[in-house]
Amino acid sequence: MIAKSLNISLMSNLPLKERIDAIRLEAESEFKKATTSRDLYDLKVRILGKTGSFQSVMKEMGSLPPAEKPMAGKLVNEAKQALEALYSQCDESLKSAELAAKLKAESLDLTLPGVPTPMGAQHPVSLVMEEISMILSRMGYSVRTGPLIETDRNNFEGLNVPKDHPARDMQDTFYIDETHVLRTHTSPIQVRTYENEKPPLRIAAPGSVFRCDSDVSHSPNFHQIEGICVDRKVSMADLKGTVTYFVGEFFGKGLKTRFRPSFFPFTEPSAEIDCQCAVCKGKGCRMCSDTGWVEIGGSGLIHPNVLSFAGLDPKEWQGFAFGFGIERMAIIKYGINDIRLFSDNNVRFLEQFSV
Ligand code: DAH
Repeated sequence: MIAKSLNISLMSNLPLKERIDAIRLEAESEFKKATTSRDLYDLKVRILGKTGSFQSVMKEMGSLPPAEKPMAGKLVNEAKQALEALYSQCDESLKSAELAAKLKAESLDLTLPGVPTPMGAQHPVSLVMEEISMILSRMGYSVRTGPLIETDRNNFEGLNVPKDHPARDMQDTFYIDETHVLRTHTSPIQVRTYENEKPPLRIAAPGSVFRCDSDVSHSPNFHQIEGICVDRKVSMADLKGTVTYFVGEFFGKGLKTRFRPSFFPFTEPSAEIDCQCAVCKGKGCRMCSDTGWVEIGGSGLIHPNVLSFAGLDPKEWQGFAFGFGIERMAIIKYGINDIRLFSDNNVRFLEQFSV
C-alpha cells in the first residue's frame, strides 16, 4: 500500500523537492490503481490526511532556512492541489462505475404493491360535536366557545350558584385556585356571551369539560354542547319544539321526546330531556334498559337570577337553555357500550365512525 511504500524516513535525507515529487508520483500511480471508491478514500486519508505523508513533509518545512520557506510552501501546495484534483476525478469515475454496477445488479419489480399508509379518521366525539353544531347552525344558532380554565364567577356565580351553595356539590370540581376551576360544564359560555352580545341571541356552545369523577360511565374529561336562546316571550313550548326538532335531525325523524321535571340552579322550571331510544325506536332494548326511553340532557327556562346577573331585565327578556353530553349522544346514536372506548385510542374502534 502507498503509506508503506512512501517511506518518508528512508527518503528524509533527499532534498525536499525530490521528496515531494516522489510522494506525488507514487500517489498518482496508486490513485489510478484503486478499484473502489472506498479504497481510494483510504489512500487519500493516508497521503493527504492529518497523519499522512504530506503532513510530515510540511512539518519539516518549519526547520528550513527562512529564505527557502516560500518556495517550499509553493511546491507543497501545488502538489497537494494536484493530488486533490486527481482524487476528485478518480472518485467521480469510480462512483459512477459503482452506481452503474449496482443498477445492473438490482432489478426493480414495479408490479409489487406499495406499502399502504393508514388513513386517520375523525374521532367520534369530534364527529358528533361537529354534527350537533351543524344542526344547531341550520336552526339559527351561532357557535361560541370559551376557555377550559374558567373563573368561579362564570362557572358558578353567574349561573345562580353562589359560593357555599349546596348545588355546587352536584358538580365535582377541580379547583385551580380560590377563584379558578377547570370548567365543569359549557354553561359558563352563556355568561361570557351575555357580557359581549345583546339579545335576541341563539348560541351553541360546544367543548371539553372536567369533573373529578371516574368509573364505567364517568370520565374526568368529557364533552358537552349547550344551546341557549334569549328573546322576548320565550316559553317551555319553544324549548320543547326546538329540542324535538333537533332530536329528529340528529337521531332520525319520528322519535318522540319527553320532559321530566328536574332541578338545575340556572333554570326555572328545569327538565331532564328523554328521547325514544334510537337503537330500538322505543320498543325496548339493552341500550334503554327495556324502557324505550333514554336520557339525553338537561334543560329549562333561564333563571331570572342568571338574566339579572347578566344585566338583562327578566321581565323584558326570557330564554331557554339545554345541555347535552356529547359522549352520551354518541353512545346512544352508535350503540356504544363503554364510555372508556372514547379515550382508549383503539384505532379499530375509532375508525368505524367516519363516513
Ligand atoms: N350544565 C348542566 C350540567 O352540566 C347541563 C345543563 C342542564 C345545561 C340544564 C343546560 C340546562 O343548559 O338548561 O349538568
